Amino acid sequence: MKFYLESAAQRSARVEEMALPGTHPEFRFLIIGVGMIGREHIQVTRLLGQARIAGLYDPDEGSIAAALALFNGEVEANPIVYNSLEKALTDCDADAILICTPNYTHYSIIEQARKTNLPLFVEKPMATKLDEAAELVQLGRSYAGFIQLGMQYRFKSQYTEAFREVKLLRSLGDVKTVSMSEYRPPFLDKVNQWNKFNEYSGGTLVEKCCHYFDLINLMAESRPVSVYGSGGQAVNFLDFSYEGRKSDIHDHGFVIINYENGVRASFTLNMFSQELYEELIIGGPQGRVLAAEYSSFRHAGSRGLIKVEVEGHADYDFRDVSYPKIVERSGHHGATFFEHEALIAQLRGQETDSATLEQGLWAIIVASAAQESIESQRLIDIESYLADRGLAWVWNELKN
Ligand SMILES: NC(=O)c1ccc[n+]([C@@H]2O[C@H](COP(=O)([O-])OP(=O)(O)OC[C@H]3O[C@@H](n4cnc5c(N)ncnc54)[C@H](O)[C@@H]3O)[C@@H](O)[C@H]2O)c1
Repeated sequence: MKFYLESAAQRSARVEEMALPGTHPEFRFLIIGVGMIGREHIQVTRLLGQARIAGLYDPDEGSIAAALALFNGEVEANPIVYNSLEKALTDCDADAILICTPNYTHYSIIEQARKTNLPLFVEKPMATKLDEAAELVQLGRSYAGFIQLGMQYRFKSQYTEAFREVKLLRSLGDVKTVSMSEYRPPFLDKVNQWNKFNEYSGGTLVEKCCHYFDLINLMAESRPVSVYGSGGQAVNFLDFSYEGRKSDIHDHGFVIINYENGVRASFTLNMFSQELYEELIIGGPQGRVLAAEYSSFRHAGSRGLIKVEVEGHADYDFRDVSYPKIVERSGHHGATFFEHEALIAQLRGQETDSATLEQGLWAIIVASAAQESIESQRLIDIESYLADRGLAWVWNELKN
């Protein structure tokens, strides 16, 4: 099932008909890490109402307190709070485990969680290092449960619409160019500030921008053959240090990607803006599709827009495709809600098109090659980049 088979309007109509919050929890989730995104998953789980939170583990007392506050004092709904990962994994009666911890912990937590054989939902990026991400793809091949990646941007309303136009309705003819950009405020505060350091986050392009490289890869429908990047740390956290260590993350950058099928793509990042603006533009022989999101870090609410600049198209001028408020405000502008629907569907044994480990790996390949290019100021040939790291099998076996 392709995530763009259902239009944003159809999704919105479905949501309008749902009685939310839902009240028929069929599954139980164990959540590892209840910081910002872990709590978003708790809220969305409770809104959708098809699963309940059976257990939590997080070593940070503040995160646990904030997570428990989301249950509004409903004692019967309160999850069990575990005091170690091992205890949570062995004792919790769960149908799926959601791993929502900092990037650098994903690999080792998956290593431990795999012993349960339960379905895993792993926040993006799956790992901070390319070789670990590749190892996780191999692990996934023999894993008894499924592993879903938290790349929910593909469920954002404006991108769903863009994919429908381009892939389903083929309004542009063959895709020739893809350009994506993100303008946003600096990284937010995190528990122990892991996102201010390349070592813990994997670098800005891996940590944040894997979402965008996933969308670009899906639009291009081909393997990236070369990547060039330029970027750096110009404005944010220049004087920031934590426990005596100086922040070293990039806050802006430009990336050019050439695909095997001739598609050319670009990505622009600027993290010293006041508000968030995301834009995806796809070009083809018949015209272009523009999908944009405006959202504020200062007040709630966002707008998703689509524009199909093709002769005679009904959406030639901008159309607002934002999801209904109840879902739009539940997290990442509604995308997380539909990501949870996909998780529930997978638990019911249905096929979905949420991100696979292979797709997560290709997003990290582009991101890490771009970071390598920024360092070396060279164009990175992906086949040799992978071969040099002992990952020739990735190029040969995974066709993206
Ligand atoms: N899909 C998205 O759009 C999206 C958005 C935000 C964050 N994320 C991802 O979610 C993950 C968490 O990000 P966040 O913003 O919630 O960070 P955060 O710092 O707000 O929360 C992380 C939590 O994990 C806990 N933690 C750390 N090590 C742990 C361990 N070994 N076991 C259990 N808990 C542990 C911390 O105490 C903290 O409470 C990251 O991988 C991040 O990239 C994804």
